[in-house]
Amino acid sequence: MRTLLKARLANDVHSTVLMADNLKDLSAHLGAYGRSVLWIFDTNTAKLFKQLPHSHLVLESGESSKNFVSLERIIAAALEEGLSRDGRIIAFGGGMVCDVAGFAASVYMRGCKLTLVPTSLLAMVDASLGGKTAIDYQGMKNMVGTFYPADEILISVDVLRTLTEREFLSGLGEVIKHALLSPDERMYRHLVVHKRAILNRESEALSTLIELSLEVKKHYIEQDPTESKQIRQMLNLGHTFGHALESTLHFGHFSHGAAVAWGTCRALEAGALLGVTDKRWAEGAIELFGSFGYEIDYKIGRGDWIAYREHLLKDKKRIEGKLHFVLLEGQGKGVLKVLDLALVQQLVISRPL
Ligand SMILES: NC(=O)c1ccc[n+]([C@@H]2O[C@H](COP(=O)([O-])OP(=O)(O)OC[C@H]3O[C@@H](n4cnc5c(N)ncnc54)[C@H](O)[C@@H]3O)[C@@H](O)[C@H]2O)c1
Repeated sequence: MRTLLKARLANDVHSTVLMADNLKDLSAHLGAYGRSVLWIFDTNTAKLFKQLPHSHLVLESGESSKNFVSLERIIAAALEEGLSRDGRIIAFGGGMVCDVAGFAASVYMRGCKLTLVPTSLLAMVDASLGGKTAIDYQGMKNMVGTFYPADEILISVDVLRTLTEREFLSGLGEVIKHALLSPDERMYRHLVVHKRAILNRESEALSTLIELSLEVKKHYIEQDPTESKQIRQMLNLGHTFGHALESTLHFGHFSHGAAVAWGTCRALEAGALLGVTDKRWAEGAIELFGSFGYEIDYKIGRGDWIAYREHLLKDKKRIEGKLHFVLLEGQGKGVLKVLDLALVQQLVISRPL
């Protein structure tokens, strides 16, 4: 077990990220906590264990489990197990499990101990570090939640072998976004040089990539743990364009990370058109996404523009009624800019009206 990093987050909590050599190493570490624990799985991640730990709860996999019913089930199971405030909730799963179990840990007896074991690439590089917990409510994502950083995050790249290609590429979309936001070019270079090994999920290339990606996230969240200074917001690169695409296509065609990859390409194009982003650098970054197989040139049909615009206007990132987009001046230099809807239309639909 190797310490990857420590990040100082909201409420002055330090999250320590540890990398395990394999699942056995990880289980041995968690086994040492004894009986005062409650494990939370989903129906897919529970399959990764031949024998499930003594106290556990399995949630149905999928975003629809990120709700009050799951929250209540976790709290009821914790009570039944006699978990005290010193007890520990161990979330073993993707972002869904991490978010809902983290939320439960933050409110159970006003806060018990929390270990996150992210099992999807997206959860390893994004959902586990940063302290945001949430459930969805009335169709709105992450509507109810808290800032409650896990004191411990355990990663084993071994578990990524069973992840579907769609989910793996979803996480990778966020990873490539982090490479552009990184203050230096190490991560960008690693992606270019080790592309094959990464796509083949080779342990060494993936471990380094995850470590570099978490360093980027740490860089932004430590400066702005509760997203109040427009620093952490830079991590939303590609999300405003991407969320509206996911919603317009009813969350079918694009995974979340693939939509973020597409949205980041639109932000790079917008920056280049406005003279904010260096044109050659933007072209190189778009090409990088393309080389990993993302649909960088996808356009929505003219008929979908109204729906796309509606979804954009509902975006939570509106400030004083105006839509702000994260653009990049160059490597690691994010800026917030208001974009005209006419420019957005030109970038996202096949033949502007
Ligand atoms: N808290 C945060 O800062 C933060 C950041 C980003 C995303 N999120 C949240 O994370 C969620 C998305 O995360 P996600 O993409 O991991 O979704 P997810 O948890 O739904 O996992 C995606 C799918 O992969 C399966 N899975 C996970 N690990 C597996 C493994 N090792 N082998 C086989 N299957 C596995 C899951 O069962 C699920 O079917 C969203 O709810 C999003 O809001 C939170």
